[in-house]
Amino acid sequence: MKSKYTVLSPGDLHKINTAKQALALDVLIGLGEHPKMLPSKYFYDERGSQLFQKIMKLEEYYLTKCEFQILSRYQSQIADLLSGEPFKLIELGAGDGLKTKILIEHFLHRGQPFTYIPIDISEAAMKNLVDSFQKTYSSLKINGLVAEYFDGLKWLSQMKGGRNVVLFLGSNLGNFHKPQARAFLKSLWNTLEDGDFLIIGFDLKKDIDLMLHAYNDKSGVTAEFNLNLLRRINRELQADFETNNFRFFSTYNVFSGAIESYLVSLEAQVVHVNELGQSFSFLPWEPIHTEYSYKYLDTDIEQLARATGFRIVDQFYDENRYFVDSVWKVEKHSK
Ligand code: AVJ
Repeated sequence: MKSKYTVLSPGDLHKINTAKQALALDVLIGLGEHPKMLPSKYFYDERGSQLFQKIMKLEEYYLTKCEFQILSRYQSQIADLLSGEPFKLIELGAGDGLKTKILIEHFLHRGQPFTYIPIDISEAAMKNLVDSFQKTYSSLKINGLVAEYFDGLKWLSQMKGGRNVVLFLGSNLGNFHKPQARAFLKSLWNTLEDGDFLIIGFDLKKDIDLMLHAYNDKSGVTAEFNLNLLRRINRELQADFETNNFRFFSTYNVFSGAIESYLVSLEAQVVHVNELGQSFSFLPWEPIHTEYSYKYLDTDIEQLARATGFRIVDQFYDENRYFVDSVWKVEKHSK
């Protein structure tokens, strides 16, 4: 006889509540602070992931074009570095996986045995990615994971055995503050084992106007990408942000090396967030910080690798040296 009830384990309950609660808590903390801030990871709901795909196609957003060039040009050198035993190709923040297709196609072509494990925070993006990859590459072993970086790492640490190659492309690390970036890479190193690889993308410091244009595109897609964060809060937490009353603003801090993005309140206004049972008032010109996109010097990258235990094996630049994909190796000797 079939039972008519479902036993909810504490683990399941946890899953049901956390997504919304995490957003609610971060909004409560972030908008209660002075200056106000919202974490950039919440950009990536379904619409946000679509908008980011649009950003990657923008003329001004050079990052994706540079990395495309790097991966196309150096695919065989990269494959040579990884050749030998089978590996798990684990991609943090895979998104639409378009750049990764270059590597995957090449590995398949060479008959290199591997399993592709994309990890992304957006379920909608993951569904599209897995569907599209399965359709295109019938022989590809793929196993997607919808999770944040940290949870993805935790999951990774549970399935030891076999070589790991972690892809952290597109300057995704750039969203972390410098100390956070170090801490994250250190815990990644701890999770990985001797002989594992990390292929990590860095956007390099360059002409300031070029960088500013990449985050202030003429067609306003980046502005829309930021404003979508307020729309998401409206939808998921029943808030009443009036997006017309906010203006996107992005600038470059030469000293910290970060593009800093903001949504600025254009007038005195009060926003109510139903799910929190709380209102937040804004003064005219009061900013909400939304994102850091850190840019690196070659010396920063060397320092970061050294500080986190990795050894730099090779560095692949685009022809303008705007961007670098750096190949790092885990070496765990008894020290
Ligand atoms: C996905 C973090 C690499 O910081 O360049 C693009 C996100 N923000 N335009 C970046 C983003 C505004 C992007 N990353």
